[in-house]
Amino acid sequence: MVDIVPLSSYPSYMSLLPSIQTCNITNLPENYFLKYYLYHALTWPQLSFVAVVRSPRKSNRNNNNSDYIHDYPKVVGYVLAKMEEEPSDGVAHGHITSLSVMRTHRRLGVAERLMRMSQRAMAESHRAHYVSLHVRVSNTAALRLYRDTLGFEVEKVESKYYADGEDAYAMRRDLTPLWLDWSEDKTASADKTAADGAGEKDDGYADEGDAVGDLGGKNDEPQEKEKMVRVKVGRGLGVGDLVERNEAANR
Ligand SMILES: CC(C)(COP(=O)(O)OP(=O)(O)OC[C@H]1O[C@@H](n2cnc3c(N)ncnc32)[C@H](O)[C@@H]1OP(=O)(O)O)[C@@H](O)C(=O)NCCC(=O)NCCS
Repeated sequence: MVDIVPLSSYPSYMSLLPSIQTCNITNLPENYFLKYYLYHALTWPQLSFVAVVRSPRKSNRNNNNSDYIHDYPKVVGYVLAKMEEEPSDGVAHGHITSLSVMRTHRRLGVAERLMRMSQRAMAESHRAHYVSLHVRVSNTAALRLYRDTLGFEVEKVESKYYADGEDAYAMRRDLTPLWLDWSEDKTASADKTAADGAGEKDDGYADEGDAVGDLGGKNDEPQEKEKMVRVKVGRGLGVGDLVERNEAANR
């Protein structure tokens, strides 16, 4: 049986990255350094998925027939996906960096499942408006998958997109129908807060204990004021800021 698992939520399958890289090299001419896979997994942990098979075999430990152990999972497919970091149209959207399935496991719906799971995560976790990808104009199998099975549309042809000079179809699919409707949750949580507030007055379960330790003191009691320090994070952090300071120079 083929399981589709998220690459880097808990439990983490990050240890499979080298096998994912091998799967990519086996199936596609577009290859990446291992650190590029790691970058995807760490930056957008919800979006990449891996298809694995685990073959159970009998343990040698004792003669109990029910004592099976599972070999290290074998990677048979993956989807590597991200959110576009600097969208040229200013619209938040996802992008499929790479997708492939080993020949031994094709036409079983693995790619379709990988793609659907990644797209759902883009819509639900990142509220992506659409997902984009590139595909070789000669890649009939992938084109059928994207256009006929998943409902992608060709946006344009990008001339000589690939290193060998082949053109690419730039394709995209609207993800807004997959967005979660937060309005129901908001109403439900507002009702709950109101109910909890009312309950505190009447149900006799309100916290009546004295403050313990530094935390939980009343507003008029002296407490150490929290120090707020403004720090730059992410893109605002230039390379220069990442260089370790020479503390000796200040002595
Ligand atoms: C393209 C690829 C990922 C499809 O993987 P897969 O797991 O076999 O695809 P699925 O089983 O999910 O197929 C779903 C649908 O896609 C279409 N499809 C998939 N492979 C096809 C093929 N060889 N010929 C025609 N249509 C195909 C079919 O419509 C299929 O539905 P069906 O089986 O009910 O007819 C796989 O062939 C592959 O890894 N190719 C090499 C790498 C590659 O081209 N990656 C895409 C780069 S953009």
